[in-house]
Amino acid sequence: MIKILITEFLNQEALKNLHQDFNITYRSEAWSDKDYLEKEIPNFDGIIVRNKTKLDKFLLEKALKLKFIGRLGVGLDNIDTEYCKNNNIFVQPATGMNADSVAEYVINSSLTLLKKTTIVNVQTQNGKWPRTTINTMEISGKTLGLIGFGNISKKVLKLANAFDVSTITFDPYVSLEETNSHNVRKVSFEEILNFADIISIHVPLNNETKYMFNNESFIKMKKKPIIINSSRGGIINETDLLNAYFNNNISGFALDVFESEPVNETFLSKITNEMNCILTPHNAGVTEESNERVSKFIIKKTNEFLQNFKD
Ligand SMILES: NC(=O)c1ccc[n+]([C@@H]2O[C@H](COP(=O)([O-])OP(=O)(O)OC[C@H]3O[C@@H](n4cnc5c(N)ncnc54)[C@H](O)[C@@H]3O)[C@@H](O)[C@H]2O)c1
Repeated sequence: MIKILITEFLNQEALKNLHQDFNITYRSEAWSDKDYLEKEIPNFDGIIVRNKTKLDKFLLEKALKLKFIGRLGVGLDNIDTEYCKNNNIFVQPATGMNADSVAEYVINSSLTLLKKTTIVNVQTQNGKWPRTTINTMEISGKTLGLIGFGNISKKVLKLANAFDVSTITFDPYVSLEETNSHNVRKVSFEEILNFADIISIHVPLNNETKYMFNNESFIKMKKKPIIINSSRGGIINETDLLNAYFNNNISGFALDVFESEPVNETFLSKITNEMNCILTPHNAGVTEESNERVSKFIIKKTNEFLQNFKD
């Protein structure tokens, strides 16, 4: 019998669609139980994870029956994909299924940071009346710089167009034809730093993108942009980001992802509610709607893939 382990939360309706003949173990906290995973993983043909389950080489080497990994999301940095490729383990991400949710997060954060809503809100609630003392801005007419031009960036672009935002993108791996067909200008990284009022990051975390945003890049930013990172922690150097904010190289930031999650105390201790910033718990892509889409999609793919191995 095909055995499937689910190690993180999954939409319950979607779970009902998993093939009746499969033997399913659903433990939404199993990701945190290293001993359980090491002991039990040899028994499973398929595993369904989000981003907290670390499927590294050490664990995968024990997974002798494993044929399929369903990823309830898109980033694959918690999975040793090279090992999977070399050992015939198929990895299925939920490509595009939560892109709308993340795109809405980016627009929401852009507006909130430009209008300094969090600061204005705190001051008003505290009995101040900062009607003219805090300068706020329109999004209309601003330049948005998208780092990476994949699924999520394309959704952000579509929403940004409704606000009369002019969009440029840096992505060496997409063609000029591709960006032209979306009416977006393909530029260099330096041009993003020169021209963008809003920078939104949508790339995977790898050796090339690690600390792509550091002191060196922040000091080159000409327009004191706001920065939004809903991709992966570690693409922005958090210490350098705070320096850039306190030195006025940037005018605000929204972080949904952090170098360590949950976000560490040292970073948090430097944040005050007088700052133009938004911190969220890696939930940009986790709305009710996207959770249902992501779960249903991965269940469907799990059924399709693993039913070929039924006795
Ligand atoms: N916060 C959340 O809840 C959440 C949800 C979904 C996705 N994500 C993350 O968002 C990011 C983007 O997801 P996506 O679905 O758009 O991915 P995608 O694969 O569709 O697009 C990524 C793009 O980045 C480009 N790229 C790769 N390396 C680059 C580099 N060095 N410089 C510039 N561009 C580069 C690729 O060419 C590609 O076009 C990923 O890191 C993903 O893990 C976060």
